[in-house]
Amino acid sequence: MINGEILENNRLKGDYFLVRFHAPEICSKARAGQFVHVRINDHYDRILRRPFSIHNCENDTLSLVYKVVGHGTRELSELAPGAVCDLMGPLGVGFSDPAPGVTPVLVAGGYGAAATYLLTKQAPQRGLFLLGARSERDVLLTDEYEKAGYEVRVATNDGSMGYCGFVTGLVEQLLAEKPDGKFFFYGCGPHPMLMALAKLLRAHHQPGELSIDHLMCCGIGACFACVVKVKADTPEGWAYARACVDGPVFNLDSVYVE
Ligand code: FES
Repeated sequence: MINGEILENNRLKGDYFLVRFHAPEICSKARAGQFVHVRINDHYDRILRRPFSIHNCENDTLSLVYKVVGHGTRELSELAPGAVCDLMGPLGVGFSDPAPGVTPVLVAGGYGAAATYLLTKQAPQRGLFLLGARSERDVLLTDEYEKAGYEVRVATNDGSMGYCGFVTGLVEQLLAEKPDGKFFFYGCGPHPMLMALAKLLRAHHQPGELSIDHLMCCGIGACFACVVKVKADTPEGWAYARACVDGPVFNLDSVYVE
């Protein structure tokens, strides 16, 4: 656990914020797909930590993207530079680096866009960033991916920006355009999106990894609040894994789709 001083805490768009901490101990080890468990303050009703995917690490500065959805994130959004939060991390299993000669395809839903960004720094080859959002209001971070040299394609459910439909529609388009492409897919987003993506990639025999986030409590494997089903050699065909220590990133081969 370290004390991370807030350097900046700004609204990105709507209810989405980006907070930057001075956190050299975390930045020296962080990988795409890992998370940080943040205790926002010591108020009696706010002692629980909140998990946030690591968005970026530049030098000693850790960036997290969050959406204000309740009391804890509301309080976080009100903290000014100079405030200090207790940070635990980096935690969990992150994404693996794309192999040489393979094109990374990052498939994100909503602010899952934050969790795949470090991949743009972890491999020399450029790839594609496919983002699905409810509407243009929820489209985030596309300029950062463009600056990193990634081709950006957007899908919105209401058609207010880019392709009208789900992000899996963009994946289907890509596979139809480049049937012989050598891709490796990285997914992060809401559970139904990830399950649809898993089915689609399997149907096309494409490899990948998915970040299966879940509600978390302890963040270190002790409470089993975060269990998700993974494929296993059991009569049911699945077993529970803890998203906080066995994941949140799982290889597509082990993802259990109901
Ligand atoms: Fe406690 Fe994963 S959050 S075991």
